[in-house]
Amino acid sequence: MDTTHYDFDQELDRRGTNSLKWEFFLESDAVGRRLYTEAAFGADRMLPMWVADMDFPAPQPVVDAVLRRAAHPIYGYAVPDPDYYAAVCGWMQRRHGWAVDPDWIVVSPGVVPALYMLVRAFCRPGEKVLIQPPVYPPFFSAVLHNDAVVAANPLIHDGGRYRMDFADLEAKLADPAVKLAILCSPHNPVGRVWTAEELRRFGELCLAHGVVVVADEIHGDLALPGHRFVPFASLGDELAQNTVVCTAPSKTFNLAGLKTANLIVPNPELRQQVVRAYVRSGFFGANPIGLAAARAAYTCGEAWLDQVLAYLDGNRRALEAFAAERLPQIAVTPLEGTYLAWLDCRGLGLDPAALKRLWVEGARVYPEMGTSFGAEGEGFVRLNIACPRPLLMEALARLEAAVNGRQPAACAGAEA
Ligand SMILES: Cc1ncc(COP(=O)(O)O)c(C=O)c1O
Repeated sequence: MDTTHYDFDQELDRRGTNSLKWEFFLESDAVGRRLYTEAAFGADRMLPMWVADMDFPAPQPVVDAVLRRAAHPIYGYAVPDPDYYAAVCGWMQRRHGWAVDPDWIVVSPGVVPALYMLVRAFCRPGEKVLIQPPVYPPFFSAVLHNDAVVAANPLIHDGGRYRMDFADLEAKLADPAVKLAILCSPHNPVGRVWTAEELRRFGELCLAHGVVVVADEIHGDLALPGHRFVPFASLGDELAQNTVVCTAPSKTFNLAGLKTANLIVPNPELRQQVVRAYVRSGFFGANPIGLAAARAAYTCGEAWLDQVLAYLDGNRRALEAFAAERLPQIAVTPLEGTYLAWLDCRGLGLDPAALKRLWVEGARVYPEMGTSFGAEGEGFVRLNIACPRPLLMEALARLEAAVNGRQPAACAGAEA
């Protein structure tokens, strides 16, 4: 049992670690290609609050497991062993009350590559994939890069909170060209932890129209206090048999760089299709360091996760309090899960380019602009709050100063 008390207030310098979040920023060129440009660190260093990556040290048992594995100087091909599968199943049972059979698990180098392969596996060119914008950008690109077509079922923004539009969902699913529906649960970027009732309704409509569900549950362990994540495939065998679940320890424990995820596919026929898609793409085996880290996280990471969730909830409260008092033009969407706050900035009255300038040039804070998540995101910004609280407060103070046309007051620790 891990009895470490973690100090998440402590800032760790990530420079020199190839950190995408801190050392590179994402820009698009005129034709929409994604370009990673080197970040400029200076006296007014940019605070990166974009990609879903936490600035916290991993659980000590994970660090120990990685060091132990790395100490063996041979890094050849690796495949998961029974202990690995047992760790994944044990986690799902203990943490979410979901009984997973080890045979259902297909290891994957990530959830995003899985989404791409699943679109290829289940859709012929021109067929459609239903998604619910505003939503994680690779949901769009997985469809478009594989010659399929997006069937959008936008979420309804209702009094600041989001809900699914079931009437529109039913109409969209009735189109026989729709073969696949990608569910984001919990939802990135709107922060909803869907209830069992919402999930069941979504699943039953997909089942009724013969549409396979891909449940991207990568944020499933990150339900904040007061909210309970329900694994989609735990809602009964009928829904489970129609579902490919995508899960990973990578958001939960911030292990994304280790490229280790798991698809959980209870239906043997769907599983065979998934495995065939992997074979066709040439994927085989797994990263040995990733396997060691995932196994340690899923067996010994619970105490760390409980501390992280409490800390993230504190950051959520700090953000909400700051916005209510000092940034009344910005409405914080209630954050039920994930560490990605969805800020409604429409009260600032700025067009997308001016909104970006305000954040990036004015405040020197680098968020993810809402338009990356679909047209529904216009006027919104996604802010990653998984950072030491002093850093979050510095970012908010800079933003307040930029909104009010002032120079931000010098903050302790703001030097490069
Ligand atoms: C909904 C969702 N799916 C997938 C991913 C990334 O998955 P991976 O790093 O395993 O490719 C993210 C990362 O933010 C995400 O938010």
